[in-house]
Amino acid sequence: MVMTQEMMDVIAGSRAYVATATTDGVPNVVPIGNIKPLDNKTVIIADSYMIKTRKNLEANPKVAFVVEDAAKYPFQFKGTVKIYTSGEYYDEVVNWVKEASPLAPAPKAAVVIDIEEIYSVKVGDAGKKLD
Ligand SMILES: Cc1cc2nc3c(=O)[nH]c(=O)nc-3n(C[C@H](O)[C@H](O)[C@H](O)COP(=O)(O)O)c2cc1C
Repeated sequence: MVMTQEMMDVIAGSRAYVATATTDGVPNVVPIGNIKPLDNKTVIIADSYMIKTRKNLEANPKVAFVVEDAAKYPFQFKGTVKIYTSGEYYDEVVNWVKEASPLAPAPKAAVVIDIEEIYSVKVGDAGKKLD
């Protein structure tokens, strides 16, 4: 599944609301500021404060998110994550957060999302699969 340049730009420039679920289906949604695309199939999040989100992802690596201004950018992204607490992706989020928010604590992990499905949530064509 491939994100368009517009989708990548909006993910890089905005907050997202990121949903996870427990293995028995209890949903959880959180706002996330440190989220950006790595390429047109991959998105990275800095896990600085996740509790239920992280626990959910460790048991059930499926995630869905929309960007804050979904009225303007009505995209719903779904994928599967891998969590890194060391290595290249981890170093990437540590350096990124250090630059963006020097006073913030170092992230605990990098959450890397392999984007698998993209839908429209636009009123009128809600539910339409885009890619
Ligand atoms: C505006 C805003 C931006 C946030 N950005 C992040 C972020 O980039 N990374 C992160 O780990 N938590 C971030 N948080 C915190 C999470 O939304 C949430 O509080 C944390 O994941 C704990 O909730 P949970 O137990 O449901 O996971 C942010 C919170 C707010 C209000």
